[in-house]
Amino acid sequence: MKNIQELPRVQLGVFPTPFYRLERISETYGKNIWIKRDDMCGVALGGNKVRKLEFLLAEALEQGCDTVFTTGGAQSNHAMLTAACAARLGMRCILLLKRRGVTDHRGNLVLDDIFGAEVRMLDTDSYDDIYAEMHRMGEALERDGRKCCYIPVGGSTALGSLGYAAAVREFAVQALAAGVRIGHIVSATGSGGTTAGLLLGAKRFLPGVKVTGIAVDTDPFDEIVPRLAEEAAGLLEWPFRREKNDFEMVSHVGPGYAVPNPEDTPYIEELARREGILLDPVYTGKAFAGMMELLRQGYFGDEDNLVFVHTGGAGALFAMDLPR
Ligand SMILES: Cc1ncc(COP(=O)(O)O)c(C=O)c1O
Repeated sequence: MKNIQELPRVQLGVFPTPFYRLERISETYGKNIWIKRDDMCGVALGGNKVRKLEFLLAEALEQGCDTVFTTGGAQSNHAMLTAACAARLGMRCILLLKRRGVTDHRGNLVLDDIFGAEVRMLDTDSYDDIYAEMHRMGEALERDGRKCCYIPVGGSTALGSLGYAAAVREFAVQALAAGVRIGHIVSATGSGGTTAGLLLGAKRFLPGVKVTGIAVDTDPFDEIVPRLAEEAAGLLEWPFRREKNDFEMVSHVGPGYAVPNPEDTPYIEELARREGILLDPVYTGKAFAGMMELLRQGYFGDEDNLVFVHTGGAGALFAMDLPR
């Protein structure tokens, strides 16, 4: 069995990120709710992709790459953070984004430009088309002497997922220092890598602690997440065995992926107005609203010390209004 620290990793974020109890929310709901502030990881507006990119870009650098391709929706946080991290490493960054009718140049698209990424919007709904185009462009660049790496949507590969296994190790240490026994970990699931890493990390560093992913899209995450977690475990030669109650997916997609849900707005406002923390309407707002609804339904039973992993996403707030 290897340690995560043995794998190549490039330092991009400022870790550990803060971990603390949401005092006012915990009092209101009669449950100790802790937050892991990965929105404060020190790159751009923060967010979960930085932990994945520390592994993914380390591998790219080891392979001698100087150009990074990735993809996502027009307002992709992952694309924006890849642009920021590539800039930090002096790498060229090319983003092929799904246009899906977006015409406004706002939010993360503005940030992509500021970070110097080359953005191409494509009128397709298929990532296969996008990956084919990415490789066509990359091959042309390689003929001119560049070396390209291709990061799939969300950075959700086995290697990228390890970023969140490492995150569990980080907040397990913080919880120990705070004298807190973590009961449950909750986070947004968009492409699956973060939840997969949390599941793997919980098995290794917080055995018996359940991970609940709140799905903000409709992919079959029940299969995707454990598969990715198992592949990630394989990279470290760690055992991985599903156990009863180790992990569950709960859907909170609402009207659709990236479509803000009016029912989430009060939760987004509650966290802002009672704790001074911003959530976005595409990922963290849905995840937090989903968690609070589960709490109201008694899902967490007598488990205490829930951890909400704040995965960032604030850029979207500058591209869309909160519906009512
Ligand atoms: C802000 C934010 N939170 C959560 C997620 C979901 O993470 P994952 O794609 O690893 O499931 C994303 C993915 O794009 C994101 O941008």
